[in-house]
Amino acid sequence: MNILEIIAKKRDNKILTKEEINYFIKNYTKGNITDYQAAALIMAIYINGMNYEEITDFTLAMANSGEILDLSELGMVIDKHSTGGIGDKITLILMPIIASLGIPAAKMSGRGLGFTGGTVDKLESIPGYDTNIDIEKFINNVKNIGISLMGQTLNLAPADKKIYALRDTISCVESIPLIASSIMSKKIAAGAEKIVLEVTVGSGAFMKNIEDATELSKTMIGIGNLAKKETVCILTNMNEPIGYSIGNALEVIEAVEALNGKMSEDVKEIVLELGSYMIKLAGKGDNIEKNKELIMENINNKKALQKFKELVKNQGGDVSYIDDTSKFERAKFVLPVVSDKEGYIKSMDNQKIGYISSGLGAGRLKKEDKINNKVGIIINKKIGDKVTSKEILAYIHSDDYEVGIKAVNDLRECFEISDEYIQKQKHILGIIK
Ligand code: URA
Repeated sequence: MNILEIIAKKRDNKILTKEEINYFIKNYTKGNITDYQAAALIMAIYINGMNYEEITDFTLAMANSGEILDLSELGMVIDKHSTGGIGDKITLILMPIIASLGIPAAKMSGRGLGFTGGTVDKLESIPGYDTNIDIEKFINNVKNIGISLMGQTLNLAPADKKIYALRDTISCVESIPLIASSIMSKKIAAGAEKIVLEVTVGSGAFMKNIEDATELSKTMIGIGNLAKKETVCILTNMNEPIGYSIGNALEVIEAVEALNGKMSEDVKEIVLELGSYMIKLAGKGDNIEKNKELIMENINNKKALQKFKELVKNQGGDVSYIDDTSKFERAKFVLPVVSDKEGYIKSMDNQKIGYISSGLGAGRLKKEDKINNKVGIIINKKIGDKVTSKEILAYIHSDDYEVGIKAVNDLRECFEISDEYIQKQKHILGIIK
């Protein structure tokens, strides 16, 4: 067996065997296969797809390429993952809620890349918060206070890490077999018993329509079943950012406000839907509507906020920033984006909004880019909102005036304004079990 034969087979739209997939994953992870050969194979997979058996073999080979974590000593751990989005601070709000309800919250998160943000970067905007802890500390934190959120410091699914970075550089991210195997290999390696997946759909997501998102969900649920990890997918709307902030510290501030009970409608709906399925999978309540009440109760009585503060303190963060979010350092310039038209917001180019935020320094356009936690965007108007000319659509938070002004002009173009009445968007687009 050699890599040239494997590339040629997929190029010619043939089905790869388990042995061929294992050979590729093992040797690419070890560095025996070059990036250009791997790129050729990944592009062939992107174009010709993989059948269900190939996807499963690809997932398991990537999961087994590094360590497999065993979290069974913590009880029923439910993992949560999003397929990526703009302004997605749901993990920061949801995991403390889950922990406050007595369900172990042990989650490893990633960093942002391209137009999407990452939870680890957001957590690191809290001064002192250490995402780089070892696995013993991670497990002990969950045993002691019921929650730990960390970065991917362990050697989990290293094949996915390599292949994901490669896909990002060769325009091969938006592929159902590749996304499904990437996410599920990490979830299998991360050791949770059951999984709730937020599958984002729309202009700021990898899946642009419901049909593709449904196929991706069914594929991931199938892999989850095979790995004996019950999986539920919640389809969420990514035609506009989630909530109103984009950028690391800005999103932490919004998450703290949410835990204080001040939530925008979309954040609330997504938190309630994902959270109530996590409670159900944990065996703590079969009635989804009742579970939503449990969540609201722990927001209103501040138990979830208290848990977030415990988490921050336990991982070295300065809790005074959570008590008083005005302590977060602000960007030098806060520049309004003013509407030049009257009407209703019809659509937003959400992917472009993500890129504008990354361009300000809130995310990485290249892996080595350094993050600026202070910068980002505050959205003032969302789809369906009425706007008069001269009204403020958003604010740009920038540390550089020129960059900020360019972002103001670029962001204005992301808003499509119509003369006709436009309905507000639905936030939960479907649930697939
Ligand atoms: N998130 C992942 O972890 N992998 C993908 O391929 C896409 C989104």
